[in-house]
Amino acid sequence: MRIVLVGPPGAGKGTQAAYLAENLAIPHISTGDLFRANISQGTELGKQAKAYMDAGNLVPDEVTIGMAKDRMEQPDAANGFLLDGFPRNLAQAEALDGILQDADQKLDAVLDLEVPEEEVVKRISGRRMCRKDGKHIFHVEYSPSKTDGVCDICGGELYQREDDREDTVRKRLEVYHTETEPIIDYYKAQDLVVTIPALGKVDEVTQRAMAALEREAA
Ligand code: AP5
Ligand code: MG
Repeated sequence: MRIVLVGPPGAGKGTQAAYLAENLAIPHISTGDLFRANISQGTELGKQAKAYMDAGNLVPDEVTIGMAKDRMEQPDAANGFLLDGFPRNLAQAEALDGILQDADQKLDAVLDLEVPEEEVVKRISGRRMCRKDGKHIFHVEYSPSKTDGVCDICGGELYQREDDREDTVRKRLEVYHTETEPIIDYYKAQDLVVTIPALGKVDEVTQRAMAALEREAA
């Protein structure tokens, strides 16, 4: 399957993507994680992305679309993928349509994680991420690690993202409303959007998403 996950910062895209990708045996492709990996490796792409991310703005499309396309063309993504954080504006959505068309592929569903704004602020402010690859995500209150500051899964160091400061979170939410929300209507016009209420326990949300995907596939 080829799936896009959308939802505001802190909605739980990364958390859900880890479980959904495993259940569906497809790779989880997060442009945010790819940028953070480039930053920690000190690459040119990482240097270009960092200032935009720290300010809560989108990284320019010229950089983002090429990076996402390269990742989608890796062999492990030949039979499907779960996109998390891409596309994030109309130009990226149109670029993705072009990439898929060229490969004679199409999207199966766009899952829209719906969470009230006060909840996303709580989720982001307590989030701790594993430094090793960013795929292991904890929360100081909702899903704490057994040992403070240490990832239960791989022993990596847990840290708070630089863009999780309050003023940057406000900016990211504003960018979500102005730039990203319009892609939901774009995909509604293609009849691809499934809205998933994303309040409740992590595994309850995963079950809702899996049930919705099964209905779409039927
Ligand atoms: P990105 O990394 O994509 O960040 P984001 O969209 O702001 O989303 P987050 O990762 O903050 O939240 P999430 O929905 O993944 O939530 P999570 O699962 O961690 O992008 C960062 C930056 O990179 C952007 O601002 C931009 O600069 C740049 N960028 C990336 N893609 C780009 C693109 N396509 N174009 C241009 N620029 C781009 O969960 C949050 C917390 O909640 C965790 O602590 C978790 O444990 C907890 N939680 C999750 N689910 C639950 C639950 N059900 N109950 C309780 N707690 C929960
Ligand atoms: Mg994320």
